[in-house]
Amino acid sequence: MMMTRVFSGIQPSGNLTIGNYLGAMKNFVRLQHEADCLFCVVDLHAITVPQEPEALRENSRNLAALYIAAGIDPDKATVFIQSHVTAHAELGWILQCIAYYGELGRMTQFKDKSAQKEVVTAGLFTYPALMAADILLYQTGLVPVGEDQKQHLELTRDIAERFNNRFGQTFVVPEPYIPKFGGRIMSLENPEKKMSKSDESAGAYIAMLDEPDVIRKKISRAVTDSDREVRYDPDAKPAVSNLMTIYGMFTDMTMEQVEKHFAGQGYGPFKKELAEVVVDGLSPIQQRYRELIGSSEVDEVLRKGAQKAREMCAGTLADVKSKLGFVLA
Ligand code: AMP
Ligand code: TRP
Repeated sequence: MMMTRVFSGIQPSGNLTIGNYLGAMKNFVRLQHEADCLFCVVDLHAITVPQEPEALRENSRNLAALYIAAGIDPDKATVFIQSHVTAHAELGWILQCIAYYGELGRMTQFKDKSAQKEVVTAGLFTYPALMAADILLYQTGLVPVGEDQKQHLELTRDIAERFNNRFGQTFVVPEPYIPKFGGRIMSLENPEKKMSKSDESAGAYIAMLDEPDVIRKKISRAVTDSDREVRYDPDAKPAVSNLMTIYGMFTDMTMEQVEKHFAGQGYGPFKKELAEVVVDGLSPIQQRYRELIGSSEVDEVLRKGAQKAREMCAGTLADVKSKLGFVLA
């Protein structure tokens, strides 16, 4: 039996947060043991908003190091940079010509990211077609992402089905893989907003590479809810429920177990222990990251990864071009 193909990507646009870790990366690490996985540094997606060239270069390499530091084994999974495999941009363009203007305009991420911006690039608008290309190029069956990517996945499925209907079976129609728990980690300052690495306030997120004292300070300042009870109730107590989710995901405890553990103790002891749990959970990743970042191991992984990815997607791209009626080169 063929192993399921898994594809996911993260943008190299700055500090990864524990939202990225718990919502996405932690699942990548788990899935590599049971599926044939590709994990991509999506630099073509990052340039949909302005990037400093030197920062983008550094962030891309850092993200690759972080994938490995978090536990992705480059001998098991393929780790590569999107712009190293030109098929992504090629199929991205083709799928822009399959996607409809109207459906792209309904994407809530586009609406959020373009609201009140003076400059909105055309790339920010067509971004989901490129994401569809990333996924469909590899005949992907499963896409592990956080909750915020669900709508993009639905569009990817629509594009795949539309193409298949028009030109004959070409793409596997992928399924999203969204954690029931932790798919949407919220800001520490406002539990109505998702935790995001692009938040203008650094107190809103915990970066995967934050120093222990920074983590402790951010958690001690995190907003809570009225009353003093450590109780899981996302509607009535969104802030504390979010902190409990983080605690539960780092310790593999259920919300009931967390409630029991802190029964009668109030927020103070809960926050103190939460900080230590996060510090301890991130510290082996941070240590491995520091070792990797100064070595050439990452560059070698990326070189091999790109080569492997190119081989894996060449057949699908050739098939698409032939079906569209392009004269084969
Ligand atoms: P991005 O940082 O937008 O490239 O996202 C990379 C991955 O992390 C995607 O799968 C997102 O859905 C996921 N992700 C980002 N922020 C969060 C969050 N606050 N909670 C859970 N998952 C998230
Ligand atoms: N759009 C995703 C995000 O912002 C990143 C991404 C690009 C992606 N291509 C992908 C995720 C393919 C999964 C599969 O988080």
